[in-house]
Amino acid sequence: MKSKDFLSITDLAPHEIRLLLSDAASMKAQGWQTTLSGKTLALVFEKPSLRTRLSFELAMKQLGGEAIYLSPAEVGLGKRESIADVARVLSRYVDAIAVRTFAQSTVEELARWAGVPVVNALSDAEHPCQALADLLTIFEHKGEFPGLKLAFIGDGNNVAVSLALAAASVGLSFTMASPKGYELPPEAVHRALELAARSESVFSFTDDPGEAAFGADIIYTDTWTSMGQEADAEARRKAFEGYQVNERLVSLAKPDAIVMHCLPAHHGEEVAAGLLDSPQSVVFDQAENRLHVQKALLADMLGGLCFPWPG
Ligand code: CP
Ligand code: NVA
Repeated sequence: MKSKDFLSITDLAPHEIRLLLSDAASMKAQGWQTTLSGKTLALVFEKPSLRTRLSFELAMKQLGGEAIYLSPAEVGLGKRESIADVARVLSRYVDAIAVRTFAQSTVEELARWAGVPVVNALSDAEHPCQALADLLTIFEHKGEFPGLKLAFIGDGNNVAVSLALAAASVGLSFTMASPKGYELPPEAVHRALELAARSESVFSFTDDPGEAAFGADIIYTDTWTSMGQEADAEARRKAFEGYQVNERLVSLAKPDAIVMHCLPAHHGEEVAAGLLDSPQSVVFDQAENRLHVQKALLADMLGGLCFPWPG
């Protein structure tokens, strides 16, 4: 990796994303090997989690290392203690830090002061580990990236930003459909357009979910109310009326299109009840792949890989 940290999906160059996905696929196919014996990962979480916490803890365990979870009440990042002090203390104990928090500036400040690698385990701005798992899932189901169209229907949130940038990096065309006021942030659009030009893929956005879904190979959605936005839930439900991923929308996509969601899902809101149980849904592959990509990431950051590389 070009940087010591993984704070944004753009910390990985396109060829590094491909290499990491190939490592993750090998680890998934060949089982795990002990490469991180004696290494410890601290999980500093200020928001709830099922997949991210579990997959990081298991990743360390399966690689022969260990993980220690620190809850919001214990750490009090920037409240009980300054971010700079937490970063320097943790760096004396552990070999890497995964942080789940609100502001991206908190992740960046932690990384600036930490002497060990910091991984963004979700911030308000990005969810880069999720994007890696999503790309691995797409590759497993479609066997390629160029020539495919991904339609993201919903909020221009952390998951959408990392996925848009990841897609544009590897040449997967990406169309975002969001209501006015909930689009991808302008800086993410700017970066995605630059990356898409380089990978010769299409990056576009619209407020028409049908237009985005038309001819798509992948339909993706996420919650309309992310963690920390609970007070706006009602206003958001209104704003996103007509943006539900349902059978009608999926029927506009290619017949073999897959349906994706990072989970947790609100069945009957952003996704129609029952749709994630259909054969087109790959959401549990996505959830499983969090483990495999994070194992590859941690092995790369902390120890180097010690299994045969695919030929
Ligand atoms: N997709 C995801 O990050 O899930 P958790 O919030 O449960 O970790
Ligand atoms: N956008 C969601 C993702 C959860 C994994 C959130 O931030 O709450």
